[in-house]
Amino acid sequence: MSASLNLKEHLQHPTFALIGSISDSEGLETYVIGGFVRDLLMYRKREHYDIDIVTVGSGIGLAKKVAFAIHPKLNVTVFKNFGTAMFRDNEVDFEFVGTRKESYRRDSRKPIVEDGTLVDDQNRRDFTMNTLAISLNKERYGDLVDPFNGLGDLEAKLIRTPLDPDITFSDDPLRMMRAIRFASQLNFRIEGGTFSAITKQADRINIVSKERISEELNKIILSDKPSIGFKLLEVSGLLKIILPEIQNLKGRESINGIYHKDNFYHTLEVLDRICVNTDNLWLRWSALLHDVAKPVTKRFSPALGWTFHAHNFVGEKMVPKLFDRLRLPLNEKMKFVQKMVLLHMRPIVLSEEEVTDSAVRRLLFDAGDDIDDLMTLCEADITSKNEEKVTRFLANFQLVREKLKEIEEKDAVRNFQPPVTGELIMETFGLQPCKEIGLIKSAIKEAILDGEISNNFEEAHLFMMKKGKELGLEAVKGKG
Ligand code: CTP
Repeated sequence: MSASLNLKEHLQHPTFALIGSISDSEGLETYVIGGFVRDLLMYRKREHYDIDIVTVGSGIGLAKKVAFAIHPKLNVTVFKNFGTAMFRDNEVDFEFVGTRKESYRRDSRKPIVEDGTLVDDQNRRDFTMNTLAISLNKERYGDLVDPFNGLGDLEAKLIRTPLDPDITFSDDPLRMMRAIRFASQLNFRIEGGTFSAITKQADRINIVSKERISEELNKIILSDKPSIGFKLLEVSGLLKIILPEIQNLKGRESINGIYHKDNFYHTLEVLDRICVNTDNLWLRWSALLHDVAKPVTKRFSPALGWTFHAHNFVGEKMVPKLFDRLRLPLNEKMKFVQKMVLLHMRPIVLSEEEVTDSAVRRLLFDAGDDIDDLMTLCEADITSKNEEKVTRFLANFQLVREKLKEIEEKDAVRNFQPPVTGELIMETFGLQPCKEIGLIKSAIKEAILDGEISNNFEEAHLFMMKKGKELGLEAVKGKG
């Protein structure tokens, strides 16, 4: 059984043995615990590891001794209030803490007491799979210590709290989000009692900082199949508190026996579909939010049935408020999401009609360098049950992609720079700043996008002369 399992061959990093030998000479019992052990037992490779070390005694004292032994100048960061200390060794962060009877909370403001046994400490952690500890002391080097059958739960792919879940979640309500995040990331099930405690305590998520909530949300969105997480958030009652806009997408209304589709499940399908093609968090957020304004723009008319007129425009406007509330970045990343929401229907509309050069040119102009991401979003958005329809759409999409390539090679409007500058217009017609300059510039741009002229200086210059004449302007002698 788990008690006899030895994992020493997995403790390759030389610092593990060093921690063990310093602990031996200090008379301390020390273990590696948490995510590192969990992932190791799941054969889950990660790019970056935080390694959590727990010792029955002072975590800070031990961290300082180990760091000094690695290199006398190795920097140790101490969080006195949390009773933790960490250092970085060969790109790996080692975080030390003393065993405690109280709940483990990395950002708790309450000073912690380092007075528990190992089992006390394991008891106050979030899930049994995260209580798994491996001994680092020489005599028991590599032994797994698993009093809560974390290994059994890991094998059964089960998320379960070591204590009564009501206590575990009330110790730190963020753990409700963590449970759902792990379920989504690892494709695990949340044990029944644990899940009903989440349902019962969902309201308490309000006392958790928005930053911590968003961090978990982002991890759900970055998982292979985020719909797992979002469905659990919805059923538990957490979604309506943290993302009411997404909750509102749920449901199918009917008038005169005509239903519209359930936009919550549609959105999740789009999100899952886009994850196959991109790891970009913000493109994934765009998929989550692409139809966010459907509930507020929903109308029914006997002639048209259900419509969601301008939901892309309204959705674009909703993004900043949502990002601000969740403390997500209000910079170019948010602008990217806004742009995707605004433009998400354009390629589809385009593929429904005859794909004209000028429509493709305008799409390229509006999307700029984000055109490929926009196409990825649109392809994910085709979720009809009607296979014939999906095949037809995807074939048209292929056509749009080919046209995009062809037009970009020919006209280079992806990052449009006016071929004739405002200064040249002023110089040519001897103008001071005035509205005619803008008129001429935008007429040139429109002519290029419509395919009336090519995107080059000669044709744009000729066009400028013609337009100037129409506006009653005369070229200064020697210019034009
Ligand atoms: N922990 C906890 N309650 C929390 C956060 C963390 O009990 N709210 C404990 C768990 O034992 C966890 C360990 O602290 O395994 C380390 O936490 P953290 O580094 O945040 O998470 P990991 O479990 O390592 O997982 P990941 O790196 O995937 O976030």
